[in-house]
Amino acid sequence: MLPVPAMNVELADQLLTTTRSVRKRLDLKRPVETALIQDALEIALQAPTGSNAQGWHFVVVTDAKKRAGVAALYKRAFGLYTSSGSPMRTELPPEDLRAQQFPRILDSAAYLAEHLHEVPVHVVPCVEGRVENAGVLAQASVYGSILPAVWSLMLALRARGLGSAWTTLHIMFEQEAASLLGIPADITQTALIPIAHYSGKTFKPADRLPARELTSWETWGRRRA
Ligand SMILES: Cc1cc2nc3c(=O)[nH]c(=O)nc-3n(C[C@H](O)[C@H](O)[C@H](O)COP(=O)(O)O)c2cc1C
Repeated sequence: MLPVPAMNVELADQLLTTTRSVRKRLDLKRPVETALIQDALEIALQAPTGSNAQGWHFVVVTDAKKRAGVAALYKRAFGLYTSSGSPMRTELPPEDLRAQQFPRILDSAAYLAEHLHEVPVHVVPCVEGRVENAGVLAQASVYGSILPAVWSLMLALRARGLGSAWTTLHIMFEQEAASLLGIPADITQTALIPIAHYSGKTFKPADRLPARELTSWETWGRRRA
């Protein structure tokens, strides 16, 4: 017999399966209460860090001029990303789920690139240290010490009626963003999370490849019967 769940699994699973990248459903007109951001950040800091380093830092940007500056960098990066031919994963056959989902995602991403300056709150999660010239262990440890907190932040926001989206494109111009936000040279920016109240009531789980196809048991490539 399976053990009795220690918490409301249904509710936890609902949060975990319906926290989507929110772009078109961000309410650009409604202000975001500072306390909601602060509460969600407190929850995010329950995430693990390598050696309990806790070298994380979150830059919350609400100032309209600064948001406009960050959004301009993001838009420039989005333009380069889409014009380079890189976004469309041409190696995928047309029947692949990811190839089918791509045009919708790109359309949604283009909307965000156009409207990022209007999103009331931007959060730039940062981590102490620079690992661009370090080995894979250092890279895994440094990024692994901030990314769980970022996802927790997005989950906590969603539970409070706030939508967000994980974005990274502005990092193409990381130094320019650092100058704009006064971020020191030994700090790494890891993402840019636009945050706003979301419109509509709920979100659906996404279609994903089945876990079975992506899981090996004991040896790479060995599926479970
Ligand atoms: C590492 C990472 C980088 C991402 N960068 C961007 C980005 O720069 N812009 C964007 O619009 N979405 C970005 N996304 C969001 C993905 O496009 C999104 O998670 C994916 O399309 C699946 O959609 P869903 O989150 O709604 O399930 C990023 C997601 C991750 C995890």
